[in-house]
Amino acid sequence: MEQYIIKGGNQLNGEVEIGGAKNAALAILAASIMTDETVTIENLPNVRDINVMLQAIEEIGAMVDRIDDHTVKINGSYIRDVVVDNEFIRRIRASYYLIGALLGKYKKAEVALPGGCDIGSRPIDLHIKGFRAMGAKVDIAHGLVAAEASELVGTHIYLDKVSVGATINIMMAAAMAQGKTVIENAAKEPHVVDVANFLNSMGANIRGAGTDVIRIVGVEKLHKTEYSVIPDQIEAGTFMFAVAATGGDVLVKDVIPKHLEATTAKLLEAGCKVEEFDDAVRIISNGKLHHTQVTTLPYPGFPTDMQPQMAVLLGLAEGTSTVTESIFENRFKYVDELTRMGADIKVESNIAIINGVQRYTGARVNAPDLRAGAALVIAGLVAEGITVIDDIYYIERGYERFEQKLSGIGARIEKVSDEKEIQKFILKVS
Ligand code: UD1
Repeated sequence: MEQYIIKGGNQLNGEVEIGGAKNAALAILAASIMTDETVTIENLPNVRDINVMLQAIEEIGAMVDRIDDHTVKINGSYIRDVVVDNEFIRRIRASYYLIGALLGKYKKAEVALPGGCDIGSRPIDLHIKGFRAMGAKVDIAHGLVAAEASELVGTHIYLDKVSVGATINIMMAAAMAQGKTVIENAAKEPHVVDVANFLNSMGANIRGAGTDVIRIVGVEKLHKTEYSVIPDQIEAGTFMFAVAATGGDVLVKDVIPKHLEATTAKLLEAGCKVEEFDDAVRIISNGKLHHTQVTTLPYPGFPTDMQPQMAVLLGLAEGTSTVTESIFENRFKYVDELTRMGADIKVESNIAIINGVQRYTGARVNAPDLRAGAALVIAGLVAEGITVIDDIYYIERGYERFEQKLSGIGARIEKVSDEKEIQKFILKVS
């Protein structure tokens, strides 16, 4: 098992490049099998969840040609199976996108029930409600979601809760349904817009993505396209928060600053300086942070995927801060680990009450999930002494070359795989 080992205390300075958005790319990969022509996707992040999705579509027969780390060509004409189930796909949340994609194209799909990070109960009832409203018969049995329709027919769907996954999934199926589908109370996240743009570039007819009403007129066929995935706002935000915590001055490149507005707003409240450019943001921090209040909300609100990183930051801010998690009910599992590093955080229901401390101290901690793992890395970067993070498998699901990108801006962090390497690192930095 690999770990990150970190010697905290270095300021971060320089430039870092952000990759493509994992959550947009996962849906785009699934949607790419909806045409029989060849699709080229660029700016794919080279992370574990993406590779699991590629493997899954390859297993059902799609041609997957990896041109380089960030570019892939996919041809869905060879698909011979609509059953997607393997031990890896069962672990990723985005496996559900294959239901929408296969159901839209073949009117039939059997996909392993989604897993993903354990951050609370993560039902897919809204996805199912949408498919059923379009005329599909949907059953769950033996760990698979089986959906089938003699014909998919466009309809009006109101989502009871704003759901990124359900919005995108229904949009995909509706892209090849008969007639018009209207999704109300749709999610407005940048990756919803990116997937809609991708489908439209294949000939779909989707309007209104990015607002809470999306209108889709189904088409019979989709065609080839070349498409570049949008930048990852969560990866960008994670680097911005790392700089805010350690202090320093970093240009975060290849981003869409508009997508980072909620993150930037909180950094300004915490006392950092943020400059926006066309496709970059510069963050300057002296490491002295003010307390503030944050509530996670659907886009354009503060993203739940930045919540653990925010809590790590506020753990070092003077005064008392609160972080309210309104999307997932079990997203404070990192608090015990952070407490072991010296944080003073009390969780009451869905609110973390954070009393800022002067410093964190290095410890051996476990990454409980993807974003919480990244947050613990930030804590390690600012902590006194050595931090070892176990279970970095989770972090690698969503961050490409994380330790290398951090080293590039001045962090002392390495990936190690045994005690010997840990001791070697300690000797080197002491
Ligand atoms: C996606 C992201 C995840 C992010 C989340 C919110 C992927 C692979 N994952 O997850 O990183 O944290 O959006 O931005 O893109 N809900 C239901 N029924 C459903 C679907 C969702 O009740 O059928 C609830 C969820 O439990 C949650 C809320 O709706 O409370 C939002 O979930 P949703 O936006 O669907 O998140 P995911 O698609 O799972």
